[in-house]
Amino acid sequence: MGYRVAVVGATGSVGREMLNILEEVNFPVDEIHAIASRKSMGVEVSFGEKILKCKDVDTFDFSRVDIVLMSVSGKFSKEWSPKIAAQGPVIIDNSSAWRMDPDVPLIVPEVNPEAARGWRKKGIIANPNCSTAQLVVALKPLHDAVKIKRVVVSTYQSVSGAGKEGMDELWDQTKAVYMLGASAPKTFPKQIAFNVIPFIGAFNEDGYTDEEAKMWNETHKMLDPAIKLTVTCVRVPVMVGHSEAVNIEFEGPISDDEARDILREAPGIQVIDKRDDKGYMTPKEAQGEFAVYVSRIREDLTQPNTLNMWVVSDNLRKGAALNAVQIAQLLVEQGSLTKVIA
Ligand SMILES: NC(=O)c1ccc[n+]([C@@H]2O[C@H](COP(=O)([O-])OP(=O)(O)OC[C@H]3O[C@@H](n4cnc5c(N)ncnc54)[C@H](OP(=O)(O)O)[C@@H]3O)[C@@H](O)[C@H]2O)c1
Repeated sequence: MGYRVAVVGATGSVGREMLNILEEVNFPVDEIHAIASRKSMGVEVSFGEKILKCKDVDTFDFSRVDIVLMSVSGKFSKEWSPKIAAQGPVIIDNSSAWRMDPDVPLIVPEVNPEAARGWRKKGIIANPNCSTAQLVVALKPLHDAVKIKRVVVSTYQSVSGAGKEGMDELWDQTKAVYMLGASAPKTFPKQIAFNVIPFIGAFNEDGYTDEEAKMWNETHKMLDPAIKLTVTCVRVPVMVGHSEAVNIEFEGPISDDEARDILREAPGIQVIDKRDDKGYMTPKEAQGEFAVYVSRIREDLTQPNTLNMWVVSDNLRKGAALNAVQIAQLLVEQGSLTKVIA
C-alpha cells in the first residue's frame, strides 16, 4: 500500500526519468498519473512495463493525489504550484521558481534532509539546479571534515540540461553539419555541435549569468552561506551528463588521500580515481547511473590547503529526477506525508 503520485511534465526529459526512477527504486506507488500540456493528451509514456496515457493539467483533479513531482518551466510552476498545493498534495518542483523562497525548503537529501520538514508552509519543496545538486553532494562531506573557504567551479553542461529541445538541437545540428552544412541555432545562442558555449541562461548586470548565480545562491542556502563560490558555466556537445572541474580551498590542511577516504564513505558518491585510462569518469559513463562520481582528486600545487577534483553525474537523474524521488522517499521516512491509503 502506498501513495498516489502525479508526474507533471511527464513527456519531458526529466518527467520521463521521474517515471523510470519511481519504478527502479520501487517507490510505494498505489496510483500513478502522467500529466502534460493539452497538446499531449493521450500521448503514451512508460512506467515500468505499464503504459500511461497523458492527462491534461487543466482538467486533472489534484485533490486525488498525495505527491506531485513537477518538471515544467519556472513560469508554469509560479502559476500552478500554489493552486495545486491548495488541493492537498506536496509538490516537489524541479524548476527554479521557488528555490530561493525562504518558505520553501531547497533539498538535496545527502546534504540538508532536516530542512525538508518545513514543506507545509507553502506545500512545495524545491529541487536545486542540476549543476548545484552534484556539486553540493561532493562538497558536503569535505566541508564537514575541514571547513571550505572558497570554491572555483567550471561546468561542462550537457544539452539535456536544456530539455528535449536542447537534445534535438545537438542531434539535428550534428547531422546538418555532416550532410547539408550548419543549421541555425534555436535553443542555444550559437551552434552547439562541434562547439562549446561559455554562456547558459541570461546575463546579469555583473557579467555573470543567472545559471552561475543559481549555483552560489543555492549552495549558500543548502550548505553554508560562508563558502565563497565563483563559477563559469559552459554548455558542451554532450547529450546527457554534467561535468565540473572544482578547485576547493579549505581553512586547514587536507591531503588528497584524506579527501578520497572521506568521499568513499559519503552517501551518493562513488570515487573513481586511479592514474590510468579507467581511473576517471566521463559523462557518457555516468549516463543512467544514480551516483555523483568524483575523479582526479589532487592537491593544488600553487597554494596550501587546496584540492582539485572532477565531479560528474547524470543531470537528468541526480541533477533532477532522482533527487526529486529521493525527496519523496525522505518525506516518507520522516513520516511527514499523510499516508492516505494505509
Ligand atoms: N534537464 C535538466 O537537466 C534539468 C535539471 C534540473 C531541473 N530542470 C528543470 O526541470 C524542468 C523541466 O525540464 P525538462 O528538461 O524536462 O524540459 P522538457 O524536456 O522541455 O519538458 C517540459 C515538460 O513540460 C511540459 N509542459 C510544457 N508546458 C506545459 C503546460 N503549459 N502545461 C503542462 N505541461 C507543460 C511538457 O509537456 P508537453 O510535451 O505537453 O509540451 C513537457 O512534459 C525545467 O524547469 C528545468 O529547468 C531540468
